[in-house]
Amino acid sequence: MTVFSSRLEAASPDAAGLASSPRYVQVARTLESAIERGEYQPGNALPAERELAVRLGVSRVTVRQAIAQLAVRGLVVRRHGSGTFVAPSGPPVRIQHPLSRLTSFTEDMHSRGLSAGGRVLSFTAAHPSVHDAMKLNLSPGQLVYRVRRLRTAGGEALAVEESLLNAGRLGPLSAADVQDVSLYALLQARGAGPVRALRQLRAVNADDELAGLLGVSVGAALLATERLAWDAAGQPVELARAHYRGDRYDFVMELRD
Ligand code: GLP
Repeated sequence: MTVFSSRLEAASPDAAGLASSPRYVQVARTLESAIERGEYQPGNALPAERELAVRLGVSRVTVRQAIAQLAVRGLVVRRHGSGTFVAPSGPPVRIQHPLSRLTSFTEDMHSRGLSAGGRVLSFTAAHPSVHDAMKLNLSPGQLVYRVRRLRTAGGEALAVEESLLNAGRLGPLSAADVQDVSLYALLQARGAGPVRALRQLRAVNADDELAGLLGVSVGAALLATERLAWDAAGQPVELARAHYRGDRYDFVMELRD
């Protein structure tokens, strides 16, 4: 990527080891670094799309995709007709998540007075792997919905969650049905509300894609979880794999003797 502005050049993604990421991820990171350095202050306008495209040597479509990514993460706000502005700054959100209670992401965020978002990154109906079919008590020939969502709190990206759901049990479902809604509320409404879950937790480092989605550096610490949830009849209803930002999440557990 050719960078013409000396100031933006200082944030060149090539220097940050992002050369193999998609162009728009590189552009998003360049703009994010410029915002972090205070080159663009909270409330100030970013240069116009056309100008950024010229300065960064990329197409306007790439700039638009990059800005859309920053907007989803709450770093910038787009105002129709007047441009894109750096979001007003606020204290960073840090979530304390009790491990002993079965709550949905939406409940967790609402209990903290934050809005919860769930942008669908991908949605498919497909056959599960043998391993996942066993966990969900399905035969590999049965279909599962695989829903991958970017979870945000107050507009800021906190986690990427992927849920596998028994398609036969839930009936017809589309990406639009799970966009920015509570999946647990939807499962409840379809008679498959989870009442018990088992969760495993481990530490991983963000790869290029997760770093881009979550707005962290490649290699940043993430908490990877796998959670299998059952309904009241003991049937598995969701197998979820998620990555949470290590700099925003504290998993808290209560221990009793
Ligand atoms: C938690 C669980 C996920 C589950 C999600 C549902 O984050 N770890 O397994 O998919 O809640 O949240 P919501 O109902 O907000 O979609």
